[in-house]
Amino acid sequence: MKTLVAYFSHAGENYFVGGIKTVAEGNASIIAKKAQKILSADIFEIQTAKSYPSSYKACCDEALKEQREGQLPELKKYLPNLDGYDKIVLVYPCWWGTAPQAVFTFLRHYDFSGKSILPICTHEGSGMGRSERDIASICKGAHVLKGLALQGSCMASCDEQLKQYLL
Ligand SMILES: Cc1cc2nc3c(=O)[nH]c(=O)nc-3n(C[C@H](O)[C@H](O)[C@H](O)COP(=O)(O)O)c2cc1C
Repeated sequence: MKTLVAYFSHAGENYFVGGIKTVAEGNASIIAKKAQKILSADIFEIQTAKSYPSSYKACCDEALKEQREGQLPELKKYLPNLDGYDKIVLVYPCWWGTAPQAVFTFLRHYDFSGKSILPICTHEGSGMGRSERDIASICKGAHVLKGLALQGSCMASCDEQLKQYLL
């Protein structure tokens, strides 16, 4: 059986302790690619059909509205199925205290029963938030492991922590 790294990430403006910065690649994307290398896994990017605004403020407003209204944004593409994967490393940023709604669209699309899910959340202070619980409530029958929270501002020094969590 194989491992899949599935991730959602937002490039452009983002908040880091100390202020707003513009980044070409988001934190969760950086972590997902490191995880793929560590595990020699397959990788899939969860992308919404309609991109989120690059502006931090506009993205925050849109994400909050989506969350409050329980909207599940359409995705650009899906893997046909998750057969053959027994372990899914799910990497995402913390958005308003949990995973972005796009991650929930992805999770609702498949049957995760019998699979292990390893949640990794990049954040700027909230840690995992309530994301582990939210993931478990959607993925009935999956084994959702205790997650790993990585602060975005500490990306450069997280390699060891990531290895220890994954191996
Ligand atoms: C829409 C939005 C909502 C966010 N909400 C939170 C939050 O509730 N708690 C937190 O610690 N960080 C929050 N952040 C910061 C991100 O979680 C953090 O910068 C993360 O590392 C971004 O990962 P990414 O670059 O892969 O998108 C938020 C960022 C955005 C854009």
